[in-house]
Amino acid sequence: MLQNQKVIMIGGSSGIGLETAKQAIALGAEVIIASRSEHKLQSAKEQLGPKASAYTLDTTDEGQVQAFFAKVGAFDHLVVSAAETSGGPFLQTDTAQARKLFENKFWGQYYAAKYGAPHISKNGSITLFSGVVAYKAMVGSSALGAVNAAVSNLGQTLALELAPIRVNIVSPGIIDTPSRSKMPEDARNQFYETVAGKLPVKRVGQAKDVAQSVLYLIQNGFVTGTVMHVEGGHILT
Ligand SMILES: NC(=O)c1ccc[n+]([C@@H]2O[C@H](COP(=O)([O-])OP(=O)(O)OC[C@H]3O[C@@H](n4cnc5c(N)ncnc54)[C@H](OP(=O)(O)O)[C@@H]3O)[C@@H](O)[C@H]2O)c1
Repeated sequence: MLQNQKVIMIGGSSGIGLETAKQAIALGAEVIIASRSEHKLQSAKEQLGPKASAYTLDTTDEGQVQAFFAKVGAFDHLVVSAAETSGGPFLQTDTAQARKLFENKFWGQYYAAKYGAPHISKNGSITLFSGVVAYKAMVGSSALGAVNAAVSNLGQTLALELAPIRVNIVSPGIIDTPSRSKMPEDARNQFYETVAGKLPVKRVGQAKDVAQSVLYLIQNGFVTGTVMHVEGGHILT
């Protein structure tokens, strides 16, 4: 249970982060969600109710991240699901796009861990987000795979350096969240069907599948430095 625990969910306004915030509140936590869009934050806050508060934050801005943690003060658990990802064929993709991916998903999590850690209680934790393309190479995911692998390695090193704060990494597979809404609906459904057909579990993931794993990592005081794969057996295929 998470009674009297304060959880910060950066990226908590959508998808896996929002579902994790819901589950944390159901377990008794007070939750702070943060992301860039006021509109998304407002809509998430309406769904989460009075145990949630919301802050605008862009994790690519180091100064903003530092100021955010100075403002919120002491807390127990940090979860960073914030990311805006992209892909494309290696030779045809602008280098700038790959750099942007690192700015957003790698450096965003780096800043959050760096400026958040000093405010986390001794029994607290940090959960970072990697992804399946770090462990199963996929065409079109060269930069994203590299970013995800970098995040996993960062998290494992921080599990040593920031101890006794526990640091774990979640690596989702293909999950049906708003991050995939850029794809037209028909193409998206076709993609989900193809992926599901190949996976041992015969379905793509839902935000709640990943949120359950985050809640496990937050609550189990004997787990640190773990990369938890929540991907329906994708790596085995
Ligand atoms: N869905 C999948 O299939 C999948 C697969 C592998 C890994 N993952 C990883 O799982 C994590 C969560 O993904 P999701 O599917 O839940 O995505 P999502 O629904 O798009 O949610 C991403 C969240 O991050 C926030 N965000 C993005 N850039 C930000 C920034 N610079 N600063 C602050 N907030 C930012 C977004 O809100 P604003 O727009 O308001 O900033 C949003 O709340 C990500 O790390 C993603 O790479 C997802």
